[in-house]
Amino acid sequence: MSNIKEMVSFILAKTEKNMEKFGENTPVAVIDGRNFRYASIEDWRLGFWGGILNYCYVLSGNEKFLRYADIQEEKLKDKLYNHPQTLDHDIGFLYEPTALTKYYLKGDEESLRIAIDASDVLIGRYNPKGKYIKAWNEWPSEPVFSKEHDRRIIIDCMFNLPLLFEISKITGDKKYYEVAYNHAETCRKTIVREDGTTYHTFLFDRETGAPDKGETWQGYADESCWSRGQAWAVGGFTMAYRYTKDENFLKTAILTADKFIELLDDDFMPAWDFEFRNQGAVPDASASAITACGLLELCEYVDKEKGDFYREIAKRLINTLWEKCASKDDDDYEALIKRCTGFFRVNSEVDTGIIYGDYYFVKAVARLYGKEWVI
Ligand code: GLY
Repeated sequence: MSNIKEMVSFILAKTEKNMEKFGENTPVAVIDGRNFRYASIEDWRLGFWGGILNYCYVLSGNEKFLRYADIQEEKLKDKLYNHPQTLDHDIGFLYEPTALTKYYLKGDEESLRIAIDASDVLIGRYNPKGKYIKAWNEWPSEPVFSKEHDRRIIIDCMFNLPLLFEISKITGDKKYYEVAYNHAETCRKTIVREDGTTYHTFLFDRETGAPDKGETWQGYADESCWSRGQAWAVGGFTMAYRYTKDENFLKTAILTADKFIELLDDDFMPAWDFEFRNQGAVPDASASAITACGLLELCEYVDKEKGDFYREIAKRLINTLWEKCASKDDDDYEALIKRCTGFFRVNSEVDTGIIYGDYYFVKAVARLYGKEWVI
């Protein structure tokens, strides 16, 4: 891509400026049209800023980025050992871009210990009867919805599984692989609909573990297709195939990817929920960035013609983000990418910069720039 160097320079310059400004804080979402709000200890997104810093090191070789990434890892270490009640299933999102990535970059044994201990917490949420990792905890602010917390999975969890697959590989302990494999298989059989769209969440019978029904939380309706959920499916099943070589996961990755591409608006941005395709709804740029990452890997697992197609779509998604969403002409805007939508239904973080949009944009750009992903 002719503009890829420009993208890399933009990422490095803005991140360097941001890290000096943020210090120990962890940015999560732009709330006032320009500045990031910082994360609280409960936030599932605490790992993405450290992940961006690690990738800026990969892109530049500049150790200064790693020093700031270390601050983030230290905070996550404190969360794991001193505030475990603040953890839910989003443990891969926290410790894979930080501790595990640091272990691969620098061979740091303490980082590996953190990643293993985090994986133990994650597999502790496994329900052997239903063969799934339970997603969330009880939320005092949402007593009715969250009373089902002990029997719910969500599509996002597919991105927590690489941590387990990697830890299984490193330690030789199969238990992490088995939990990750079984969860992915349960998710494939329940959350993915026959037409390739996805439910956001799925419930299981408490007594028998049998599949019960799909429900949404962040999407428009139980039967609609929330675009970021679809993006988690594309990348999630692609990575499940990476680790297992199970053809069913590859088929599901292809099915969900083709559906995502079909449901994009004509301007190549995804509506926050595909129910509103081509109706001028606010987009979710993070869904584009996540899907671009998925396609940049999936293109390597399919035949040449399909692979070229996926690579081209990924490039077009990233180019569209670059043209329409990157804050390249807006020095004061702290996020790299605008126009992400966190939780439309409750008007939370709508059409703004969100840290996971930035993180997956950086990962996609790194790959297009010819850098191997660390994980
Ligand atoms: N994992 C939650 C979200 O995508 O908003």
